[in-house]
Amino acid sequence: MMKKVTIQVPATSANCGPGFDTLGLACTLYNEVTYEITDTKGFQLSVTGEGADYLKPFGRNLAFASFLRVWNKAANSQRIGLKVTMHNRIPMSRGLGSSSSAIVAGLYAANCLCGNYYTKDELLGIATDIEGHPDNVAPAIYGGFTISYMDNGKAHSLRLLPARPLKFIAVVPDSKLPTVLARQAIPANIAHKDAVFNTSRASLLVGALLSGNYQYLGAALEDKLHQPYRAHLIPGLGDVFAAAKEAGAYNAIISGAGSTVMAYAAPEADCQAIAEAMVRAFAAKGEHCVYHILDLDTDGVKAI
Ligand code: HSE
Repeated sequence: MMKKVTIQVPATSANCGPGFDTLGLACTLYNEVTYEITDTKGFQLSVTGEGADYLKPFGRNLAFASFLRVWNKAANSQRIGLKVTMHNRIPMSRGLGSSSSAIVAGLYAANCLCGNYYTKDELLGIATDIEGHPDNVAPAIYGGFTISYMDNGKAHSLRLLPARPLKFIAVVPDSKLPTVLARQAIPANIAHKDAVFNTSRASLLVGALLSGNYQYLGAALEDKLHQPYRAHLIPGLGDVFAAAKEAGAYNAIISGAGSTVMAYAAPEADCQAIAEAMVRAFAAKGEHCVYHILDLDTDGVKAI
């Protein structure tokens, strides 16, 4: 049996504007995680990059817990020592799928070491069970854009690739936004007219991506299901959206539950100018940010 594997897992951006808990995409910002089975019992963890100052080698750390979820089933709970070495580029609690990336990396690593015991579709079910919703774990597993849904408690996902390339400008504030807080901000019920608004936008988004008619993306990325209720948690959000559009982006959205704001732009757009305009709009509200100009990741998680 193989005892060591290195996994590359992409950052993800869930919701994509109107597709709350449904749409997601994988992008070209990666964590690399090496899992090694050791003779010394217990957990060892070494982290560089994001989370290096506070991730600890506890069994409840997602990196270990998710690995063991597959290992205990596929290797009959055989007791092992586990050494995990992470090089993390995905910022934590910023809406770029860092917890999903940890879950998917752990599940995938154990699955590789156990001779691909589960299919990717089965891993989606386990990952969704851990994460609570499928919209980040699905693109981390499959790559591309994903449309996910739950049916009788089981997660399913349709992966698609857009007809033409797109650029994603992720502007990441220093301030974290815990998902649990951002989910509490959303009301239990919404008006029927807002449901109609979002149905039209989400449908238009999928159609625009598949057909390459990106002139619809400005309207297609609008949302009334979660962004208006979360706006107060991201000071300056409206100005950041406006700055992105003014600098040439199709539109911008809250990435996942935030705090990252992601603009969608044509490859020929001046992505640096869009990023800098968004950073300036955040700075006007006292928020320092970094930015990443990204492409779509089409592979999802893989062993490297
Ligand atoms: N769909 C989720 C949300 C993504 O917006 O809360 C973050 O986990």
